[in-house]
Amino acid sequence: MNKVHVISHANIALIKYWGKRDHQLILPSKSSLSVGVAALATRTTLSIIDGKKDLIILEGNENGKLLEPVRHFLDTTRALFGINKFFSIYSKNLFPTASGLASSASGFSALAIGLNSLCKLGLNKQQLSILARHGSGSAARSIFGGFVLWHKGLKPDGSDSYAEQIATNNDWPTFRILIVVTTRAAKKISSRTGMQASLETSPNYTHWLAQSENRIGPMIDAISRQDFSTVGTLAQADWEDMRDVMLSTTPTLDYWSATSHTIIATITKLKMAGVACYITTDAGPHVKILCLAQDALTIKNNLYHIAGIVEVIESDLAQEPILIEE
Ligand code: PMV
Repeated sequence: MNKVHVISHANIALIKYWGKRDHQLILPSKSSLSVGVAALATRTTLSIIDGKKDLIILEGNENGKLLEPVRHFLDTTRALFGINKFFSIYSKNLFPTASGLASSASGFSALAIGLNSLCKLGLNKQQLSILARHGSGSAARSIFGGFVLWHKGLKPDGSDSYAEQIATNNDWPTFRILIVVTTRAAKKISSRTGMQASLETSPNYTHWLAQSENRIGPMIDAISRQDFSTVGTLAQADWEDMRDVMLSTTPTLDYWSATSHTIIATITKLKMAGVACYITTDAGPHVKILCLAQDALTIKNNLYHIAGIVEVIESDLAQEPILIEE
C-alpha cells in the first residue's frame, strides 16, 4: 500500500483547553472535553515519495504560513519513530466555506492516522492521540468521534496526556451544533499565542483552571444521562469563564465582532423565552450554538435576519475518522 486517504473531523470544546504546561510537547494546563463535528470534515491524502523533501498542498496551496506547522509535525514524527521517508500530503476541507474555521484538529489527526498506516507504526488510538497532540492540542481529541475527553496527564513526558471517547455519535443522535460563520477571514491572533498570553497575564486564569477542571466530572455524568440542560449550562459557563480570561489578558484578547455580539444577544433572548440553546465560541468571532434537533430550525429562523452572518452550518456529532488504504 503506498497511498492512504483519511477523513477526520474538527471538534468543538464544551470544556475548553486554553494554556499549556509544556510548549514543546503541547501538554495542557487542564483536561478538556469536546464534541466532534460531522459537518467540519477534512480529507487528507498521503503517500510516500522519492526525494528528500515533503510535498505539502493545503487547500490547493503549496505555499503559505499554514504549511510550517505541518512541516514541523512531519519532522517531529520522523524523529519520534526513526522514519527516513518523505511524503506528499494533499489536504482539503470538505465544508462549504473558507471561513477561518479551517481546523488544525481535523488536519493533524488525519496526518497522524495517515502516517501510522503508511509507515506501519502500529499505534493504537491512545498513541495516535498523543502523536496528533504534537501537531495541535485539540487534534488529540479528533482521533475519536462523539464526545471526547482529553486527559491533561501529569507525567513530564506527556505519555498520559491523551484523549478518550466518552460517548459515540450514536449514543446521542439528536445532539446538534449550529456553527454561525461570521467572517471568511482567518483569525487575528492564533490560539497558540493567545493562550500563552492568558496564562502569563490574566488575573482570572488560576480561578478558571480550578472551576473548569471541576466541571469535567458533572459533564461526563450529564452526557451519560443525556441531560441536555446540564451539558449546555456547564459548557456555556466554561465558555463565559474562558471569555473572561481572554478579555482580562494583556493585551486584551477580543476575538468577537459586532456580529458575534448580536448573535450572542439573540440566543440569550431565545433561551430566556424557553428554547434550549447554549453558546460557546473559540479563538475567533464565529458563534457555536448547542441545541437538540427539535429546536434547530427555530434557532436558525431567529438568526437569518442578522447582518454579517455568512452562513449557518448545522451539524450532528462526528463519527470516528475514516481511513482508506489504496
Ligand atoms: O489546539 P489549538 O491550538 O487549536 O487550541 C484550541 C483552543 C480552543 O479552540 C479555543 C479551545 C479548545 O479546547 O478547542
